[in-house]
Amino acid sequence: MKVHVLLSHLNADELYFTNRTTVVIDVLRATSVIAQALSSGAKEITPVGSVDFAMKISGDIKGGQTLLCGERNTKMVEGFNLGNSPLEYDDTVAGKTIILFTTNGSKAILKARYSENLFCCSFNNLSAVAKHISSLTDELTILCSGSNGMFSLEDTVCAGKLIKELTKYGKNINLSDAASASLVLSKNFGKDLLKLLSETEHGKLLIENGFEQDIEFCSRLSNLNIIPAFINGSIKLLQQDSDN
Ligand code: MLT
Repeated sequence: MKVHVLLSHLNADELYFTNRTTVVIDVLRATSVIAQALSSGAKEITPVGSVDFAMKISGDIKGGQTLLCGERNTKMVEGFNLGNSPLEYDDTVAGKTIILFTTNGSKAILKARYSENLFCCSFNNLSAVAKHISSLTDELTILCSGSNGMFSLEDTVCAGKLIKELTKYGKNINLSDAASASLVLSKNFGKDLLKLLSETEHGKLLIENGFEQDIEFCSRLSNLNIIPAFINGSIKLLQQDSDN
């Protein structure tokens, strides 16, 4: 399998993704929130690129079945129902459509929307995604959401761990330079994920802003057997075969 890693969503044009299989990663916190929301029974998650657009499409909110969710500068946007803390996405989101705006993650997913197959991955659901990908494709692009166009260590370490997990399925892996670097970084920084997330730039900001528990949540490895798949504009739970 050929594996490419993009270190920020600003590094590629949206047409790059056409016909590709892509996995988007935003460990802190968008793709962790997406896995948790689906695990709690959310019907679907619609990623959006602006607060204005989120407000516009929520005009159809009927009977509380749609929730406006996400963050700006890590905090819930005024007028929204939920922020971007995975701890908020408990049973109360079951059956709901979530409109999600985040600073980097929702934009990265939209950037990759022309992919033939598009999945969301965090540490929480890494094994489930790797297993599914291993039998699906011979070429994979991993898109790290990054931080405002810049490199983010936690997303890159997660990309490296995903690659490592793929090797368990006996695939011959052919790495791009960025994929090789991700693998090395995951070996160096991926042993203690709680420590890693507590010490990255965005992790420190989340702790400063009172989201320390989110760091612990997002550091759990493969605790959710969830494959979030972007299909026709929204992210849904991919039903897995019973032998998965
Ligand atoms: C993002 O998309 O940048 C994040 O998920 C930010 C956050 O919620 O901390």
